[in-house]
Amino acid sequence: MARISIVGTGYVGLVAAACFADLGNRVVCVDIDADKIAALRSGRVPIWEPGLQELVARNTAAERLFFTTDYRDGLAGSQFIFLCVDTPSLDDGRPDMRRVEAAVTSIAASVTHPVVLVNKSTVPVGTGEWVEERLASGKLAGSQVSVASCPEFLREGSAVQDFMHPDRIVIGCPLPDVARRVADLHKPLAAPLVFTDLRTAELIKFASNGYLATRISFVNHIARLCEATGVDVQEVARGMALDSRIGDGFLSPGLGFGGSCFPKDLRALRYLGHSYGIDTALPDAVLSINRAARAWVPEQVRALLGERVHGAEIGLLGLAFKPGTDDLREAPAMDIARELQRAGCTVRAYDPAALHKASALLPDLVPARNAWELAEGADVLVICTEWNEFRHLDMKRIASIMRRRILLDGRGVCDPAAMRKLGFVFRGIGRGQAWEREAGRRA
Ligand code: UDX
Repeated sequence: MARISIVGTGYVGLVAAACFADLGNRVVCVDIDADKIAALRSGRVPIWEPGLQELVARNTAAERLFFTTDYRDGLAGSQFIFLCVDTPSLDDGRPDMRRVEAAVTSIAASVTHPVVLVNKSTVPVGTGEWVEERLASGKLAGSQVSVASCPEFLREGSAVQDFMHPDRIVIGCPLPDVARRVADLHKPLAAPLVFTDLRTAELIKFASNGYLATRISFVNHIARLCEATGVDVQEVARGMALDSRIGDGFLSPGLGFGGSCFPKDLRALRYLGHSYGIDTALPDAVLSINRAARAWVPEQVRALLGERVHGAEIGLLGLAFKPGTDDLREAPAMDIARELQRAGCTVRAYDPAALHKASALLPDLVPARNAWELAEGADVLVICTEWNEFRHLDMKRIASIMRRRILLDGRGVCDPAAMRKLGFVFRGIGRGQAWEREAGRRA
C-alpha cells in the first residue's frame, strides 16, 4: 500500500485516483475547485465515465479515497504526488502552463518530506527539467522532491478500463531507484514498462497522439478521393487494415477528431516545430484535413438544398465528440450546428448524453428527446456521432416521418444501398459508389 496524492481531479486525475485506490492504495485528491471537491465528497462524480461512479463510491466508503482543497492536508505524508492538471491550448497553439506552474508552486510550498512528483499532465518537452530546477532553486521548500514523467494514454468513455489495462507504462526519470518505485506502484497493472528520461517520456505522449490523429486525417483524405472516384472508403480501409504493418485502429473515416487531446496536441506539435525551426507541414496538413472533414456536412446541405437551405429543418443525430461521453470539446457536431444556423437553418439535435450541455452552449439548438422526435418533419438528418443506438434505428420509420428524406452519414454507420432502397437521398463521407462511377463514365 502506498500513500498517493493526486493534484487535479479532471478526467486523468480522478480516474487515476479512483483506480489507484481500488488497487489498495491510500489516495488523497487535491483540487482548488471547491465546488468540485464538495460534489465529490458527497458522492457526486462530475464526469460521465463508465464505472467511475462505482469506483469512487466504493473506495470512498472503504476510506481509501479522500478529497480536499487544502494542499498541506492533501500532501501530508504522501510518497507520490501525481500532477494531473490540464494544459489547454493558447491562441498560438502553445499549451497553457499556468495551472501546472501554480500547482508546482503550491506543491513546493506545502511539502516538507521527501516525495516523488510524477507528472501526468501533457506538457511541453523540457517541463520535467524545468520543474526540477524550480524545486531545487532553494527559494522553494520542495528540494526533497524527485521528478518523474508518466504520461497517461486513457481515452474518454473507456477511461477506467484503459487505466487498469494499459498497453504500456512509460516512466521518464533520471534516477533509476525512483523510476523503480514508480514502476512498483504500477505492478498490479501487469503492463510492459518503458524506462526512459523525462524529455523522451514527454515527447512519447505528443508523438503517440500525433500519430493517431495523422492516421485519422490520412483516411479522411482518402475518403475525399473515394467520393471523387466512386469508391467506398470502408472497403479501402478494410483492405488496408489487413496489412499487418498497418492494422485496423484509427482508420475510421468521418467528421474528424475532436475532444480535449488530439486537436490540442496537434497544435502543440506544430508549435514545437515552429519553436525549433522544424518544418510543420505534417501537423499543418493533419489539422487542415480535420477542419475540412467537418465542413463536409454544410457543403452537402448547400449542394442538396440550394436556395432552400434558408429555413430548412436539420436534425443532428449525436453531438458528443465521440460515443460513450458527454464531452463536447472541439466536437464536430457543435461547429456543424453553428455553421448551419448561420446559413439560416433550424438545427435540432438528439444525443443520449450531451444534449443538456449542448443546449447550454447553443441556446438556439432545438432539443429532441429521441430520434423520432428529431426526424419528424425534418428535411435532413445528419449522423454526427456513432452512438450504438443509431446503428439499430428503424430507418424505414424514420424515412416515413421526415419531410425531405435526406440522410447524411458522417460516421460510416449506414449501408448506402439499403438507405437508398428506403427512399433516402443518401450521402456518406467517402462512400462513393460503383454505380456513380459507371454513370459518370457513361455521361
Ligand atoms: C485520445 C487518445 O486516444 C488517448 O490515448 C489520450 O490519452 C487522449 O486522447 P480521446 O480523446 O478520449 O483519447 O478519444 P479517442 O477515442 O482517441 O478519439 C479521438 C477522436 O478521434 C474522436 O473525435 C473520434 O471520433 C476520432 N476518431 C477516432 C476518428 O475519427 N476515427 C478513428 O478511427 C478513431
